[in-house]
Amino acid sequence: MSGIGRFITFEGIDGSGKSTQIHRLAETLRNAGHNVVLTREPGGSPGAEDIRKLVLEGDPDRWSAETEILLFTAARRDHLERTILPALAAGKIVLCDRFADSTRMYQGLSRGDLRAIVDQLHSLMIGREPDLTILIDMDPATGLSRAKSRQTAEERFEDFGQGLQEQMRKGFLDLSRQYADRFRVIDGAQDIDDVASDIARTVLAELA
Ligand code: ADP
Ligand code: TYD
Repeated sequence: MSGIGRFITFEGIDGSGKSTQIHRLAETLRNAGHNVVLTREPGGSPGAEDIRKLVLEGDPDRWSAETEILLFTAARRDHLERTILPALAAGKIVLCDRFADSTRMYQGLSRGDLRAIVDQLHSLMIGREPDLTILIDMDPATGLSRAKSRQTAEERFEDFGQGLQEQMRKGFLDLSRQYADRFRVIDGAQDIDDVASDIARTVLAELA
């Protein structure tokens, strides 16, 4: 199916099932005949994947929140220019694991209120919101234990601990009310197949 491109993002705390579910949705949409590009942040283009290593590995205090805003936004700008906008212009559905809402939460809330700086830099350098955002809502303790069981080097944010995850969960739910036109909240505590069918139903209804 061709036509206008659609930009769909997945958000939620670490371990909420975004990566699992975005792959399931990609498969469902491809089976329904859609042309899908699956991507992620930080990353999604060669330059942005290089920045990913800088921000996700190392000590939690490696960067200040302000420096992180610049690094995540630099990565996002490259990703937008080289991956997202060309795919949308070609009429594809872009599924992106995290986007600017993650910066609004992780950099905008976690170390003081920097939300206004995040939003200003976003409008200056990015200027694009998703058409639809799937928020997988989840109890932070379960999310963190799922995320920790993965054992990767990319644990800088998980190492901030459960307090951060609780703050992020509440922040994402607040954001879903602020941007109620594009956010849809899914219950991530269900088993994988039930979460997948809730997401598929929601997205197919929006695309129709
Ligand atoms: P995220 O991308 O949000 O961090 P993942 O999709 O990587 O989350 O999931 C984190 C871990 O939890 C993975 O090991 C995954 O297999 C598992 N998982 C994902 N969804 C569920 C679920 N609904 N129930 C139980 N385990 C899940
Ligand atoms: P991700 O790879 O999605 O991790 P997870 O699968 O554990 O959810 O994202 C890695 C981390 O990057 C995650 O802890 C959140 C953080 N992050 C930010 O702090 N700001 C951002 O703008 C983005 C996109 C991610």
